Amino acid sequence: MRKLFGVIGDPIAHSMSPLMHNDAFAQLGIDGYYQPFHVKSADLAAAVHGMKAIGVQGFNVTIPHKTAIMPLLDQIDPLAKAIGAVNTVVRENGGWTGYNTDGAGFVQGLREECGGPLEDKRVLLIGAGGAARAIYYTLASEKVNQIDIANRTLEKAASLAESCPYSVAGTVKTTQEAEAELAAYDIIIQTTSIGMLPLIEAAPLSVENIKPGAFVSDIIYNPFETKLLQEAKKQGARIQNGLKMFVYQGALAFEKWTGQTPDIERMADIVRHQLG
Ligand code: ATR
Repeated sequence: MRKLFGVIGDPIAHSMSPLMHNDAFAQLGIDGYYQPFHVKSADLAAAVHGMKAIGVQGFNVTIPHKTAIMPLLDQIDPLAKAIGAVNTVVRENGGWTGYNTDGAGFVQGLREECGGPLEDKRVLLIGAGGAARAIYYTLASEKVNQIDIANRTLEKAASLAESCPYSVAGTVKTTQEAEAELAAYDIIIQTTSIGMLPLIEAAPLSVENIKPGAFVSDIIYNPFETKLLQEAKKQGARIQNGLKMFVYQGALAFEKWTGQTPDIERMADIVRHQLG
């Protein structure tokens, strides 16, 4: 019988995950189907129970349900619990297990394009929201030695670092401090919404002092090259947008559901094509 998968969120109409996953099912000869489900917050519990009842095998979770879904699941992977957000749910032993593949997807894409081991690199993370938390905790769980955080609201950055269960050195900085000390960093990771509509002409900090050859990764992929990435490139930095993260978080979910690895380049092409 055809195996059912999907994604729940509100809004959900513009999700590119269905195209990506359905193409991977076809490519690998798997009789599966991935459906977007528009689920409002008030209906989240009913949706999660209903999907179990009708035999859905696994699903993705997106805004605004990534944290709210946690008490509705049967087991939660330790890294997802630490991050405090679930983006992938897998049917295991008849129950739902929650995982977070956002952080792992980001780190896989970073390792692939950054070159060399990450462990000894000096990392600056810009932002302290949900995406920053997933990335910081995953990097810390993978033994990166030092991660500094720059954020508009310092307390949020401090609390993110303090509540990390994995040991990692680092300090919390204002944006101005980070700008002045930018030459110290090998890797700069941008996780705020600055650079996306309506802040398309803005960058979270000036990159005048960046080290040539530093690696700058922005988790935004629409626009394809944010102002920050354009400026960093002009300064001789190597750059990466958020496409790899998006594709890898999907690929890692797909692997958990099917045990098979999809074609990453094909997935990336599908997203690029959709973005036009
Ligand atoms: P997400 O879950 O997508 O990471 P979020 O939790 O709302 O989103 O976090 C947004 C991040 O972008 C935060 O670091 C936020 O800074 P604050 O902690 O100071 O709120 C940052 N951010 C958003 N808009 C910003 C702006 N106009 N200027 C500076 N930082 C901004």
